[in-house]
Amino acid sequence: MINIPQKLVFATNNVHKLKEVQAILGNAFQLLSLHDIGFIAEIPEDYETLEENAMQKARYVFSRTGYSCFADDTGLEVEALNGEPGVYSARYAGEDKKSTENIKKLLMKLNGVENRNARFRTVIALTLSGKDYLFEGTVNGKIIDSPNGFDGFGYDPVFIPDGYNQTFAQMPLALKNSISHRGMAISKLVDFLKKQ
Ligand code: IMP
Repeated sequence: MINIPQKLVFATNNVHKLKEVQAILGNAFQLLSLHDIGFIAEIPEDYETLEENAMQKARYVFSRTGYSCFADDTGLEVEALNGEPGVYSARYAGEDKKSTENIKKLLMKLNGVENRNARFRTVIALTLSGKDYLFEGTVNGKIIDSPNGFDGFGYDPVFIPDGYNQTFAQMPLALKNSISHRGMAISKLVDFLKKQ
């Protein structure tokens, strides 16, 4: 039997993500951000796969703080671009990580391209009592020609999930959470924790 820690660190300071995950987690666990535990060191993300990067982040925090910890890494994988921007989604258009620039670059690359199929893929790595686990969530959809909507973050304004006619940036947060890549990965994480 693994002893479930009541306190779990989510290795992020992204307030949008924290809000999304907190909504899904409910009261089952006490979620702490890096800020909450006073962790200010920059966490490396040196690898070329979502799995390796997520695991590196979770282990990095655990090894320095002793807190059980999970970390996520997400990429937008566009079929016509052979999976680009993928692991480089945040810094697609440069190290200043500007969403508007990333979207601009993406739309330029897809200019005139008929195949608009894309998916978001989230990998969550959990380091719990010294053991490592991976969880994955994906959502398929299409990239539209120009941004639509103001909520959300990242590529939300240009992504319409299959079965809907709104972009992630036009949807209420609760709806996005219920169908999103991150929502699915978090649900798997929560199911796992509850079974321990
Ligand atoms: P991260 O690994 O969650 O930091 O995600 C890397 C990058 O993927 C972000 O900087 C965003 O550009 C993009 N991204 C991740 N999740 C989402 C999402 O839910 N909507 C839109 N873009 C996202």
